[in-house]
Amino acid sequence: MHILITGGAGFIGSHVVRHFLNRYPSYTITNLDNLTYAGNLANLTDVECLPNYRFVKGDITDGDFLMRLFEEQRFDGVIHLAAESHVDRSIANPTAFVLTNVLGTVNLLNAARASWQSNVADKRFYHISTDEVYGSLGNEGMFSEKTPYDPHSPYSASKASSDHFVRAWHDTFGLPAVISNCSNNYGSFQFPEKLIPLFINNIIQNKPLPVYGKGDNIRDWLWVVDHAQAIDVIYHRGQTGETYNIGGNNEWSNIDLIRLLCRIMDAKLGRVAGTSEKLVTYVADRAGHDLRYAIDSSKLQRELGWVPSVTFEKGLMLTVDWYLSNTGWLSNVTSGSYQHYYQEMYGGR
Ligand code: NAD
Ligand code: DAU
Repeated sequence: MHILITGGAGFIGSHVVRHFLNRYPSYTITNLDNLTYAGNLANLTDVECLPNYRFVKGDITDGDFLMRLFEEQRFDGVIHLAAESHVDRSIANPTAFVLTNVLGTVNLLNAARASWQSNVADKRFYHISTDEVYGSLGNEGMFSEKTPYDPHSPYSASKASSDHFVRAWHDTFGLPAVISNCSNNYGSFQFPEKLIPLFINNIIQNKPLPVYGKGDNIRDWLWVVDHAQAIDVIYHRGQTGETYNIGGNNEWSNIDLIRLLCRIMDAKLGRVAGTSEKLVTYVADRAGHDLRYAIDSSKLQRELGWVPSVTFEKGLMLTVDWYLSNTGWLSNVTSGSYQHYYQEMYGGR
């Protein structure tokens, strides 16, 4: 079995690469990533020497390159995670999201189709997507696989578009595709532009914690290791042509989550209780900010038997411990262009 994992140097991708290499030593795993600001080979140092691991630096927006790669490598399956993934960056620069998330996905679909032609019986094209395609919930209800798409940000619009293209290649060309839509992930190796690692980094440095709007937006958080486990289950046992929602059944308003994180950080850093929470600073809301996400993952639990393995408190504690033990990783990724990004996004704060 030779699997191509795209975006394997990113946050979730690196966990998926690690999971597959450790769990399936007989598989060959090729990680294709063009190492944008979010891609970091330091996320994979513990597995990069394994004999069944290969890294290819390449851009999925380059269709000719992908055709050649598929021709040479004869992959049995694809797990597609490469994407521009940060909502705030999609508001600042939408076009990059169209190129990588839409065109890049279509290029991969074309390459897989050309490589597999009609010989698709044991092949699989697994597209990793997000719950944000479903839009925003009010106080009630959850997203199911049947919820109509209603994306609001350039990021979620580009992911919704890519999902539609994957389904079109399945329905029109018989490509053996499967899709999953997951809620917010947290854990080790997440780039400190996303809420949890950004706030951990700022608390360490005693910098303000920029809370958008009133902090009452709600997200459904899942430990990234549990996402990687769900991806394994769906890759191997999901039904072709189906969609599976993945979520932690773990809703938190941003401000409640931030207060919990502040309490954990005060205890871990030996600071007086309440010190970190004083850093909370309410700032202008994100444009088009979705109010609430909540995922109904009962189909995945019922049909494939997947359930999350940790409580949020446990997962968050493990995450904080990881960042505090890996300050070298944090300072590496926050040097250089990160400073420019931070200045542009948050000004002097
Ligand atoms: P990330 O930004 O950490 O990583 C993305 C990776 O893709 C990086 O390694 C980057 O170098 C690579 N990449 C970007 N553009 C590329 C290109 N043109 N060619 C090749 N490689 C490219 O993202 P993440 O948070 O790990 O998300 C991975 C996937 O999971 C994305 O498709 C995202 O939409 C989806 N997802 C993320 C979450 C979440 O909470 N982070 C939740 C649900 C779904
Ligand atoms: O729901 C899945 C999605 O979760 C993924 O598809 C995306 O790739 C991923 O980035 C994430 O999107 P969010 O926009 O929900 O995540 P983010 O960490 O950027 O923000 C989480 C919440 O925290 C959101 O309501 C905005 C808020 N926030 C975020 C930042 C970065 C703040 O209040 N302040 C901040 O500085």
